[in-house]
Amino acid sequence: MANSFDVIILGGGPAGYVAAIRSAQLGMSTALVEKDKLGGVCVNIGCIPTKALLHSAYIARLLSNAKEFGVEAGSVKTDYGVAMQRSRRVSDQNSKGVEFLMKKHKVTVARGAGMLQPGRKVKVGSDVLEAKQAVLIATGSRVKGLPQIGLEINKTTVISSDEALLLEKAPPSLAVIGAGAVGMEFADIFHAFGTKITLIEALPRILPLEDAEASDTLARSYRKRGIEVIVGAKVKKGTAGKDKVALEVEAGGATQKIEVAAVLMAAGRAVNTEGIGLAECGVQVTDRGFIKVDATLQTTAPGYYAIGDVAGPPMLAHKGSREGVFVTELLAGKQPHPIKYDNVPSVTYCHPEVASIGLTEDQCKERKLDYVAGRFPFSANGRARGSGETEGFVKILRDKRYGEILGAHIVGAHASELIHELAVARENEYTVEEVELAIHAHPTMSEAVAEAALDSLGRVLNI
Ligand code: NAI
Repeated sequence: MANSFDVIILGGGPAGYVAAIRSAQLGMSTALVEKDKLGGVCVNIGCIPTKALLHSAYIARLLSNAKEFGVEAGSVKTDYGVAMQRSRRVSDQNSKGVEFLMKKHKVTVARGAGMLQPGRKVKVGSDVLEAKQAVLIATGSRVKGLPQIGLEINKTTVISSDEALLLEKAPPSLAVIGAGAVGMEFADIFHAFGTKITLIEALPRILPLEDAEASDTLARSYRKRGIEVIVGAKVKKGTAGKDKVALEVEAGGATQKIEVAAVLMAAGRAVNTEGIGLAECGVQVTDRGFIKVDATLQTTAPGYYAIGDVAGPPMLAHKGSREGVFVTELLAGKQPHPIKYDNVPSVTYCHPEVASIGLTEDQCKERKLDYVAGRFPFSANGRARGSGETEGFVKILRDKRYGEILGAHIVGAHASELIHELAVARENEYTVEEVELAIHAHPTMSEAVAEAALDSLGRVLNI
């Protein structure tokens, strides 16, 4: 293997592999170092397999209600093991897809754990690769437990999303600790496969980073479905036995004891910055453990850049991929479109889905912005009624004076797709009027976006 490259990338997740493709497209010789399967957490043990499982959960729910739609599905039986195997095949296909892309773009893939060395070098096994231009650090993140209260991940009764994705059977009962994206998605999946779920969130509401109306709608939907949701809750103690876990949970001034077959830790992720030689190269980290970067994503060591989860929040695949494109374009002497960190869509793929961009209504209030909220419920949308998916709404926060879209929040079926109309609008600084000017096809869920825009202007048509 030739050991000298223009660009070396450490980590083959959505930040690293996309950076590798763009780097190669721009004519730079590129090496990608990966110790595991290509595609990283997202492809192998994150975004992609969970979306496959969420679709299985969706089918299970759909079939349970099929009679109403004139379809007799008989008694619905679910098998998590089969769904899990399918999700593995989907992940493997995607990972092979990344391998193909590396070959297509003539990216050299160095297999093994890479260790950074001074002088823009990366040691992989006995090889030392050298970058003429830059080393990109894209080592991502991993799940973390709560060892301080006895909840260290033991992979049997105290599990993380890593293990949950490989279970052969859905547990009879499960406490999910943390109601961020991971917690919400797994609560949804396992509930559909017959698990009794207790969702425990430390902050006063589930999905605490989302708009409060989105959190409330989701909490109502989950509770209606039979998922127990405990918010403002402190897990004081966890005792893991061989086949059960006892939890002491304090909420609303009372302590309750909960016994479950397993606990799923979904209380956030830690970045992979240890043991890769950062300090030796002069790459510093922030108080919160992320790699310190400047506006060009260069670290404190010239020639070393950080992209993806290690470079700071939001820890989202699409943010990492964009950083990979941005840095490689800079290295190739281009002037890339600046990354607007306030315009990164956030999506939780639970049912109903939650998608948002920009400010929440509380943030508008905190900033004392003069805004108007336009809303449209899916219960008033013909397409949503036709599919029996009337939960949720579109809410657009409009700056009163200039019509700027300050934020947008969607809860409902296909929210993950619908949000992009507003992402494009915000990226290009369109006003709500400009969003509504485009004719929206009828009947579509997207009409709710146009109607919410109209509502913010006091001209809503269908409510
Ligand atoms: P998160 O930080 O988004 O949510 C963790 C939740 O756990 C928070 O609501 C927090 O208040 C709560 N929490 C923390 N300690 C707790 C405790 N002791 N007891 C009860 N609750 C506690 O982390 P999550 O969901 O693990 O996801 C990690 C990262 O991966 C996030 O940045 C997330 O956005 C990203 N991700 C994105 C997905 C998506 O885009 N659909 C899917 C999965 C993860």
